[in-house]
Amino acid sequence: MKKTAIVYFSEHHGNTKKVVEAIAAAHEEVTLIDAATKIEVDLSGYELIGFASGIYGGQFAKKLLTFAQINLPDRKNVFIIYTSAMDRKGYSDDLKTFLEKRNAVIRGSWHTKGFCTFGPLKIFGGAFKSRPDDNDLSEAVKFYESICEEG
Ligand SMILES: Cc1cc2nc3c(=O)[nH]c(=O)nc-3n(C[C@H](O)[C@H](O)[C@H](O)COP(=O)(O)O)c2cc1C
Repeated sequence: MKKTAIVYFSEHHGNTKKVVEAIAAAHEEVTLIDAATKIEVDLSGYELIGFASGIYGGQFAKKLLTFAQINLPDRKNVFIIYTSAMDRKGYSDDLKTFLEKRNAVIRGSWHTKGFCTFGPLKIFGGAFKSRPDDNDLSEAVKFYESICEEG
């Protein structure tokens, strides 16, 4: 099994945290790193590094990007996970641009909807209240396993 780190940021409802915790619960080789609390971490010993975040204002969390800028070594195998209310194509563009500059190999990207009470949605009790659900979490684990199987 690969030694894997997943760096995550999940401040709204813990939606992204649920996803990465499901992966870590199923795979003991996975270490979770919370980008909200960690500034410097030595990632050189990890073969595979995931970046996971909610989407805030159309982007990955700035703290996650800053963490990556400080800590990601050159030429790593990486993957991307995000949770959001919608799924617009450009959400991971800034992260991908940075990863490409760092010569990372992007092994895959996965998204699911996440409970959202931001802005006017709050008035209606929020959207996607039950997401991520058990099916989403199982799909997240499968996504991770598919990357590992590719070698
Ligand atoms: C400040 C803020 C801005 C958001 N902006 C977007 C957005 O631009 N597009 C979108 O699809 N969802 C947006 N959302 C919804 C979140 O991406 C979604 O709820 C996500 O699952 C939150 O993840 P978390 O619980 O791990 O923080 C926003 C939520 C918040 C709180």
